[in-house]
Amino acid sequence: MSVSRRINRLGLGVFERNDIRKQTYQVCKSNNDLPSLLDLSLGSTDIKPPDTVLHAIKNSLAQSKSSAYCLHAATEPFRESVAIWVSKRFGVNVDPYEEVLLLIGSQEGTAHLPLAVLNSGDTGLILDPSYPSHRGGLILADAHIEKLVLKAEEDWKPNFHSLTNAQLDQLKMIIFGFPHNPTAQVGDQTWLDEAMKCGVKHEVVIAHDNPYVDLCFEYNAPSLLNCPGWREWGIEFFSLSKGWCLGGFRLGFAIGAKPLINALRRVKSVVDFNQSLALQEGAIEALLNSSSWPKQVLETYKQRRDTAMKALSQLGWKVPVPSMAMYLWMPLPYWAKKSGFNDETFAADLLKKTGVALTPGSGFGQGGSDWLRLALVLPKDQLEEAFMRMESWWHVNS
Ligand SMILES: Cc1ncc(COP(=O)(O)O)c(C=O)c1O
Repeated sequence: MSVSRRINRLGLGVFERNDIRKQTYQVCKSNNDLPSLLDLSLGSTDIKPPDTVLHAIKNSLAQSKSSAYCLHAATEPFRESVAIWVSKRFGVNVDPYEEVLLLIGSQEGTAHLPLAVLNSGDTGLILDPSYPSHRGGLILADAHIEKLVLKAEEDWKPNFHSLTNAQLDQLKMIIFGFPHNPTAQVGDQTWLDEAMKCGVKHEVVIAHDNPYVDLCFEYNAPSLLNCPGWREWGIEFFSLSKGWCLGGFRLGFAIGAKPLINALRRVKSVVDFNQSLALQEGAIEALLNSSSWPKQVLETYKQRRDTAMKALSQLGWKVPVPSMAMYLWMPLPYWAKKSGFNDETFAADLLKKTGVALTPGSGFGQGGSDWLRLALVLPKDQLEEAFMRMESWWHVNS
């Protein structure tokens, strides 16, 4: 049976490829007495969400409305809580009725937005490397994809001046995301200001994926809500997955220009009935009463980052210190390149020989080739164990 061209164009995603490798390892492990898997390949954390949030979810689970379909009107208490959080967090007043939209995770929003904004064949610009749903959403909408390549030698700063006016006029949408996964750079508000200015001038929708807004070690996270112009051409995506460690619960939201929020809502009305009310109760509790939770989470990641940086320096692997939490973005070591490894084969061999799973950078786009992403999602002792295993493998190979 043939499937659509867009499925072929999507290809196998980086996390699917990781998953296959990890499953293969698990099978080998049970047959060959290999060490347990230490999975540092996914931004899915072991850190607990606030107890109060879990209690709020638990308390509302038994109510019959929690198991009912949830239409947009019923999401109002959630949207109002978002408006309160935004006002405290950014000093910006948003209209909870027309400028806020509940999402089933921010990924759902960035993946569906192109369907709401673009006609088939329209052009969208993504950063390269970037989070896979940015490219994937454009493919699902049959869009033409342009890439703005981020370079290590430019500190991963998007170089807007490399785009001509003619190119900018062709664009219908730009998808940005700082703090940036996978390069682990917080980025700068001026970068986003520039993108927003471009958006207004060239009539391009600026989408900003911002799930790490409260997880910066240094500097403040940029936000579209700080840019004049977002109410005309902007939409920003937030998440409860990272700051409140609620990834599996699939809770996110968008804030943006009314026509964009309305169009995305209409796409979603075909696709889903929103997240369960019980989970929304948890999100309301997080936003209103546990808004400082991400600060504690950040402290834990800071300790893990320091553990990891120390181990890497002992190994002789020069890795830039990340300015945001959760990830290390690690260049393929010189010896590995010389021995013929690329990021994909390096990650595969490391997993096979040590049980430590990393993500190859090229999975986030060609701009991530020869880099590897390590997620700090295990406790200190397991991280140390991972680096110990890496060390023996490193010395055998280098
Ligand atoms: C940039 C970016 N956007 C979105 C997501 C997914 O977030 P959510 O769980 O809210 O869908 C991730 C997860 O790693 C991410 O790094």
